[in-house]
Amino acid sequence: MSETSFRDKVLFTPGPLTTSLSVKAAMLRDLGSRDHEFVELVRDTRRRLLALAGTSQDAGFEAIPLQGSGTFAVEAVISSCVPRGRELLVIANGAYGRRMVAIAERHGIRTVAVEADDVAIPTSDSIEAALAAHPGIAMVAAVHSETTTGLVNPIEAWGAIARRHRRLFFVDAMSSFGALPIDLEAAGIDFIVSSANKCIEGVPGFAFAIVRRDALIASEGSARTVSLDLLDQWRGLEANGQFRFTPPTHALLAFHRALLELEQEGGVVARGRRYARNHELLVSGMRELGFEVVLDPAIQGPIITSFFYPDDPRFDFARFYDLLNERGFAIYPGKLSRFDCFRIGTIGRIGDAEVRALVAAIGEAVGELGVTTVAGRGGVPA
Ligand SMILES: Cc1ncc(COP(=O)(O)O)c(C=O)c1O
Repeated sequence: MSETSFRDKVLFTPGPLTTSLSVKAAMLRDLGSRDHEFVELVRDTRRRLLALAGTSQDAGFEAIPLQGSGTFAVEAVISSCVPRGRELLVIANGAYGRRMVAIAERHGIRTVAVEADDVAIPTSDSIEAALAAHPGIAMVAAVHSETTTGLVNPIEAWGAIARRHRRLFFVDAMSSFGALPIDLEAAGIDFIVSSANKCIEGVPGFAFAIVRRDALIASEGSARTVSLDLLDQWRGLEANGQFRFTPPTHALLAFHRALLELEQEGGVVARGRRYARNHELLVSGMRELGFEVVLDPAIQGPIITSFFYPDDPRFDFARFYDLLNERGFAIYPGKLSRFDCFRIGTIGRIGDAEVRALVAAIGEAVGELGVTTVAGRGGVPA
């Protein structure tokens, strides 16, 4: 890849990510939040986001940036768009699905969870059964790329179920939007959210929702907070092009630049192809070292990959992490309670050279730890 940073560590994480120097340089400005240039930048960013999602205002969709991290956008949709007195169905097979349940419960929204193990996909039958048993459900919510493990959920199939039952469909595409193709119409999506610092390769500071306008307008009166009121945020932007409250001007400057760089790379398909190649190079290199991948390849996505700890008492994750840090790389701890694993993200401004360098560093770190049995299943029998 082109030069990325001022000798920072390469981030093999799910975000914040390694970004291009030009994305970081785009922030070297001081724009006022009411400045015409800034208002125009926000307008253009919203239009480009819709184009990236394969849609437009004419097709009935709106792009709404919202201050805060990705969770704020998830909370904005749940707390402002589930009608009062109605229920939310969450399809949960990871920490981010479970976070949706926690958010809804905090707002006093009755929630039905269709759960599966973190390394499995909930069945369509279980979703159908939950909808049949709970006629009060207004919205079905799911996570596309479950960053907890790296699995990709079948949102098209789930959206078809939601549509057949005439329920709203909400997708958390935090770690997939911009790299994995998502057909909003085909998947029957009413609300989808992501954030600035994932596959679009911007910097942290805001998230965004892409919403079906009529579903958004129909949510009038449902918002349970002021700052996360999605309809109000949209109305503010539509009225004068401005955010209701202080916008993250620098993050938006970086994001606009990141969107242009995504378009230059060839859009969603090209970006997804680079990430898929990063993932394949990583997995083949790690397998050569002896590491085992947690997920079944049939459900594994290219965004982040979980690897079992080696079955060797000399493997110490904290020390392993530090040895990689010393060599200029940051990886990510695991997020599963049933077995021990760590995660390596393959998104951000990284390519072949960075992935090969990481795998070489992992080989050295394993050697330095004195680990001889790299293979392992994190303490669970095969
Ligand atoms: C699928 C998914 N949902 C939600 C979040 C939460 O985003 P944030 O940490 O930006 O609040 C993440 C973060 O990685 C994620 O991967």
